[in-house]
Amino acid sequence: MAETRQKEPFHWRTGIAYKTRPKIVIRGYDLNDLTGSLDLGEMAYLVWRGELPSDAHGKMLNAIMVCMAEHAFSPSSAAARMVASGGVPLHAGVAGGLLAIGDLHGTFDRPAALFQQGVARARTEGRSLEEMAEILVREAREQKKRLPGFHHPQHIRDPRSARLIEVGQKLGVAGPHLALALAMEDATERHMGRRVWLNAVGVSGALLSDMGFEPELAKGVMLVARCVSLVAHVYEEMTRERGWRASGRSEITQPLDLELQRPEFYDGPPDRAFPAERRRP
Ligand SMILES: CC(C)(COP(=O)(O)OP(=O)(O)OC[C@H]1O[C@@H](n2cnc3c(N)ncnc32)[C@H](O)[C@@H]1OP(=O)(O)O)[C@@H](O)C(=O)NCCC(=O)NCCS
Repeated sequence: MAETRQKEPFHWRTGIAYKTRPKIVIRGYDLNDLTGSLDLGEMAYLVWRGELPSDAHGKMLNAIMVCMAEHAFSPSSAAARMVASGGVPLHAGVAGGLLAIGDLHGTFDRPAALFQQGVARARTEGRSLEEMAEILVREAREQKKRLPGFHHPQHIRDPRSARLIEVGQKLGVAGPHLALALAMEDATERHMGRRVWLNAVGVSGALLSDMGFEPELAKGVMLVARCVSLVAHVYEEMTRERGWRASGRSEITQPLDLELQRPEFYDGPPDRAFPAERRRP
């Protein structure tokens, strides 16, 4: 007979926070001491990383979150609005938008991982960051892989990048990860036939790496910041637009208008008879 292992009765296990009837303690600090003293970026840093940020890290995290809080129509805001058009509650629309954040949109984790691996590899192989940048861009070109954190399909040269770099440098946060990222941007001219610019996601991934964020936690920064946008888009969809987004009475052609899905736009199997033997009574 299998031996039954003696287990502790169930209890939660966490290093983040605890609460009792009269108090709430976050990473060792009484919540009431934090309230009114920290801004939201500093609070997020404490909750995520376990320690209060330095002044520079707090300012940098806030700057990244402000920069990422809204970006007009991108996959997540468009997705949130379509979900909201089904008549769901606010949080369901926001969750729908968050689901569009992936490897191609809002991907803070992939450039962070690329730059962290690149800096580590340069150290192991005894190479300069410039040499490593050449190797990484050449390898991506040879393997026909796109570089995460580079290019923007709407802006081409992302207008947010230079300002984030400037803030990172002024605050003294910019370190080897941003240096590698910038050297890779230079290397694209030699290996890709033209300059492929770092986008704001790439710069953020580099700066968060310089602040010691693991890639997954860097992704968390994007998720929280973009929620600001998603709440606004879903709320506006609920209050300004007609549900369903198909109404012919709207002054703008709607995305679900039948005119946009005419039979001539369909390229699946042609109309055909359903087999008589498969028909059920
Ligand atoms: C976002 C993305 C999917 C847009 O791709 P797209 O719609 O095909 O973009 P464009 O049509 O403007 O691309 C034009 C050319 O730029 C180049 N290019 C685009 N993104 C590139 C990248 N990340 N690395 C290297 N070259 C890139 C390619 O040569 C492309 O031409 P091709 O399709 O003939 O290969 C793509 O840029 C990408 O995968 N970026 C990395 C992920 C990322 O950082 N996402 C966050 C965006 S804020």
